[in-house]
Order: sequence, then C-alpha cells, then structure tokens
Amino acid sequence: VTKLCVLISGNGSNLQAIIDEIEAERLPAKIVGVISNRPNAFGLERAKNAGIPAICLDHTRYEDRVDYDAALQGAIEELQPDVIVLAGFMRILTPEFVNAFTGKLLNIHPSLLPKYKGLNTHQRAIDNGDKEHGVSVHFVTPELDGGPVIIQSRVPVFEGDSAVELAERVQEQERRLYPLVLSWFSAGRLTMRNNRAILDEQELPESGYA
Ligand code: GAR
Repeated sequence: VTKLCVLISGNGSNLQAIIDEIEAERLPAKIVGVISNRPNAFGLERAKNAGIPAICLDHTRYEDRVDYDAALQGAIEELQPDVIVLAGFMRILTPEFVNAFTGKLLNIHPSLLPKYKGLNTHQRAIDNGDKEHGVSVHFVTPELDGGPVIIQSRVPVFEGDSAVELAERVQEQERRLYPLVLSWFSAGRLTMRNNRAILDEQELPESGYA
C-alpha cells in the first residue's frame, strides 16, 4: 500500500475525507503520519480518533523558515512516505524542502489555478464578479501555487454568495478530488515529468484532468 504523510494547519476536512476513503477500502493507502504546524489544529484530533500517529511541529518555536523546513523534512523522512499530502497546510515552503520531495509532494488549492494563488481565494473570486470558481490539485514545485495542475473541479458562484458559502461549495469538491488523485498516485498512474503532470503516460493539459 502507498504510504501517505498528511500535513495540516487547521480543520482537516480533507484529511478526514482521505481517512474515510481508506477505511471504506476504496483507497489502498495508509497514512503513516499527520503533521500540523499549529498545536490546536482540529485535524490532529481527527488523526488521533482514527489511530494515526499525529504530531505538531510548531513553527513559532523555530528561528526562521529554513530552520523549520529542515525540521519538517527530517520528521517526514523518518516516516518514509511515498507521497506527502498538503491538506490545508498554510505555510510557504522553501525550495530546499520542495526539491527534497520532487514528484512526491501534492497540494490542494481552493481556486482554478493559475487564478488566485495565495490567500483569500473565495473572497477574491466574489470581488471580481467571477461566475465560476473551484479547486485545483497540483504537484508542488518551488513556485508558490505554481506547480503543474493534475485536476480541477468547477463550482458556480451565485449572486449574493458569501466567502463562507462559496468555500463550503468548493470544499464539497475537495473531499471528492483529493482521494481520487491519491488513488491514481497509489496505482502508479500519476507522475510529474518536465514540470508536467502525467496520467497514464498522457501529459495533462495545463488546467489538469477534466
Ligand atoms: C481547504 O479549502 C484547502 O483548499 C485550503 O485550506 C482549506 C483547508 O481545509 N488550502 C489552502 O488555502 C492552501 N493555500 P481543511 O483543513 O478542512 O482540509
């Protein structure tokens, strides 16, 4: 089975979706560890409830980003995962960290990349009057939210939507998308080559699998 290490900062609803999928035996994977950078992340409770080893590496206890990422890298390497799953991990990663795990680092980002890299994606989509918004799963490269997209899912933006309502609509898709991508990865169907995502030996288009 494929060994996953899941990195979180908060609620952990994506982590939960992955746990549920594994428990339902729809995803042949094992979560070997959950790491949070915040001590009060609810996702740590979710991991404990599922009997998964979970630790907090509190970034406020480290000198700087390079220091923190080196510690994070060490903690991950001890777990020897096949893939590192960023699931609401709200930190910018150093190139040294990213380059240590090329092709094994996945992220979910709540926008239709390359639109709205960074934070507050739902509010920005609303403020721009977008009729459509969504979520992307992508390989992580040193460029922030800039790695090759694997898959996207679109949702409508309705008149009068609040950022919270829109986020909920997007997150419903997230809970479906991440387990799907991980099932491809665990089946050996998904790789990154030359900065492109490859599924079943086919280069995926820039907006990912549709
Ligand atoms: C998700 O919506 C995810 O797309 C987003 O944070 C949320 C985490 O939710 N990630 C980012 O914004 C990454 N920059 P969760 O903790 O319930 O999985």
